[in-house]
Amino acid sequence: MAQVLQHLSLLYLLSLSTAQWCYQSQYSCDDTCRDPLHWAAQFPSCGGLRQSPINIVTSKVHMNTALPPFDFIGHTDVNNITVENRGHSAHFHLPQSVRLTGGALPGHYRAAQFHFHWGGSGRPGSEHTIDGDRFPMELHIVHIKEPYGSLAEAEHDLAGIALLAFLFEETTDDHPHLDTVISALGRVSTNGSSTVIQNFRLSDIIPPSKELHNYYRYVGSMTTPGCEQAVAWTVFHRTLSISSRQLDAVVKQCKFWTGQPMTDIFRPTQPLDGRVVYRSNTAAALSSARHVWLSVFPLVLMYV
Ligand SMILES: *[C@@H]1O[C@H](CO)[C@@H](O)[C@H](O)[C@H]1NC(C)=O
Ligand SMILES: *[C@@H]1O[C@H](CO)[C@@H](O)[C@H](O)[C@H]1NC(C)=O
Ligand SMILES: [Zn+2]
Repeated sequence: MAQVLQHLSLLYLLSLSTAQWCYQSQYSCDDTCRDPLHWAAQFPSCGGLRQSPINIVTSKVHMNTALPPFDFIGHTDVNNITVENRGHSAHFHLPQSVRLTGGALPGHYRAAQFHFHWGGSGRPGSEHTIDGDRFPMELHIVHIKEPYGSLAEAEHDLAGIALLAFLFEETTDDHPHLDTVISALGRVSTNGSSTVIQNFRLSDIIPPSKELHNYYRYVGSMTTPGCEQAVAWTVFHRTLSISSRQLDAVVKQCKFWTGQPMTDIFRPTQPLDGRVVYRSNTAAALSSARHVWLSVFPLVLMYV
């Protein structure tokens, strides 16, 4: 009997050390997975000092006149894109022809994928919060700096990854192009399944760069394990709209790898640990010279 118990506890310990990471919402139903408070035990970077997401306190952000608008490249191109349920979220893979530059980033960046963070029925689920307010949903577009070919290569560069974040606001009118996204989520309800969205244009779901002068910038991390601290974060002021009907549909489509409904897929906000959040200043940015903009990113990093 004692031997059996010993054997069982060994199995339990083994399952802990190789446990899958999960969100807080899953932890209550599956107590062997590793919830956000324990990610760092398996993924050390998750316990680092430059973690994301954060709460942005608007009274404490620093105005920075050297944060210019972005240049989006290929955002209006029509592509067939693959959508995949990755067990914790669904990834929408973008072709490498979708790129960006500007925004005081040190180089050109290629898009890799975008995905959403959402809550549950009636519960908000953005990752970033503004003055403590959580928004209904958040879009992340992940970009990798050229010439890196993967996240693994980019993670050794403090600005190897550029993440663009859009917060959603609940509206009465539908977002005109989100239904394509929602029906694709419905086709990838189980872990590992995938589908294609034909004739997709990124510009159908986000505004053109000329309407995106105002944003917050800080240095942080990926918000899922391994929490790589290599991300230049941009959180736009401009919100995207989603109707209550669409939001309700989004949260009902997918399942986690455990088979549970995929809801409340956001990491809790992380301490700033001395970091500064910058805010672009449209009026000043428009009158400054381009070469000045490009030289500023290293300065921004010095404050870390
Ligand atoms: C998308 O897929 C359709 C059907 O397979 C094909 O006819 C079309 O050429 C593809 N478009 C692009 C941009 O690859
Ligand atoms: C989820 O799917 C991925 C492949 O996409 C696979 O590697 C993984 O083992 C799956 N997880 C479970 C628990 O089925
Ligand atoms: Zn994300």
